[in-house]
Amino acid sequence: MPLVLALETSCDESAAAIVRDQTVLASVVASQVEEHARWGGVVPEIASRRHVEAMPQLIEQVCRDSGVAISELDGVAASVAPGLVGALLVASVTGRTLARLHGKPFVAVHHLEGHLCSVQLGEPLPPGPYLVLLVSGGHTELIRVDGPGRYIRLGRSHDDAAGEAFDKVARLLGLGYPGGPAIEAAGLDGDPLRFALPKGRVSRPEGGFYPYDFSFSGLKTAMLRQVRALEAEHRAGNEPLPLADLAASFEQVVAQVLVERSCRCAREQSLGTLVLVGGVAANRRLRQLMEQRCGLDGLAWRVAPFAYCTDNAAMIGVAAAQRLAGGQSSCFDLGVAARMPLEQAGLLYESQPCF
Ligand code: KG4
Ligand code: ZN
Repeated sequence: MPLVLALETSCDESAAAIVRDQTVLASVVASQVEEHARWGGVVPEIASRRHVEAMPQLIEQVCRDSGVAISELDGVAASVAPGLVGALLVASVTGRTLARLHGKPFVAVHHLEGHLCSVQLGEPLPPGPYLVLLVSGGHTELIRVDGPGRYIRLGRSHDDAAGEAFDKVARLLGLGYPGGPAIEAAGLDGDPLRFALPKGRVSRPEGGFYPYDFSFSGLKTAMLRQVRALEAEHRAGNEPLPLADLAASFEQVVAQVLVERSCRCAREQSLGTLVLVGGVAANRRLRQLMEQRCGLDGLAWRVAPFAYCTDNAAMIGVAAAQRLAGGQSSCFDLGVAARMPLEQAGLLYESQPCF
C-alpha cells in the first residue's frame, strides 16, 4: 500500500496530493484559470511562474491536511510528460529534489496514465480489459486497458482535441476561457437540435472512414459559418445571437460523436466496460448521453469522479502508487517532454533516462 506525495504542473493547474494506493488523504489544486482567461488561453511563461510560486504552499497544505510527514512517504511522484515543458519542470524538479533529500524513490508519471487512473478514485471497475475514452484539452483518445501500464490506442483525433474545440468555439461565441464550462453554462436552456452541425469523420486513404477516429476542425469551421450567417441576419433586425441554442447544439454534436464512436469501438472490440476520463468528462450532457447509450448497448460504464476529471495530483498519485507497487521507480536524471505517446509510459521506469 504505497504512500505517495504527487505533484502536477503540466498545464495551468498547480496541484499536490497525498495518496495511499487508491485513497486520497489530501488533494489541493490551485487554478490559474482567471489569470489566463485575460489572454483567452494558457500563456506558458505565466503558467511556469505561478507553479513555482504555488508549489511550496501546496506541499505544506497536503502534509498538514493528511497529517503525513515527508519522512513517512514511500515515494515522491510528478507528472513529466506530455505538457508544457517549462510548466512540467516545476513538478519534476521539486519532486526529484524532495525525493533525493529525503532518500525516497522518485516516480515519474505519464500525465495521461494519471487521467486513466482517475477512474479508480470512484466506484470499483468490473474485472477484465476495458475501453477508456480520454477527452481533455490536449487529447481525444480511445485506449484499450489490459492492466496497469498495458495500453493500446484504438482511436484518436486527427486535429483538435475535444476540449480544445470547446475552448476555440467558446472564444468564437465570446464566452471566455476555459470553454468547456462556459459552453455548458451558456447552453443549459438552449435547444440542442436547432442547428445541424457536422460529425467530422476521417477518411482512409484506401477509401471509407476510420471508425474510431475523430476530427473536430470541420465542426469549428461550421460553427464559424453559422455564427457569421446569423450575425448578418440578426444585424438587420438588431437582435442578439441565439447563444444558448448555438452552445447547446455544439455541445450535443460533440457528445454524440464521442458516445457513438466509443460505444461502437467497445462493442466491436468485445470490451464490456467503457470508462470516461479527462477534463471534458466533467460535461453533464456527455455523461448523460454516455450513460443512456451504454445502457442500450449493454455496456458497463464508469466515469471519473467530477472533482478528478480536470487536472489534479490525486490521479498522478494513484498511477505512481501502482508503479511503485509493481517495483518501478524512475532515475533522478529523468527530465520532461512535451510529447510522449501513452504506450511508451514504461520508458519512464528504465535505469537510463529516456529524455
Ligand atoms: O484534463 P484537463 O484539465 O487538462 C488537460 O490535460 O488538457 O482538460 C481541460 C479541458 C479544457 O479544454 C476544458 O475546456 C475542458 O477540459 N472542460 C470541459 C468541461 N470542463 C472542462 N469541457 C466540456 N464541459 C465541461 N464541463
Ligand atoms: Zn490533463
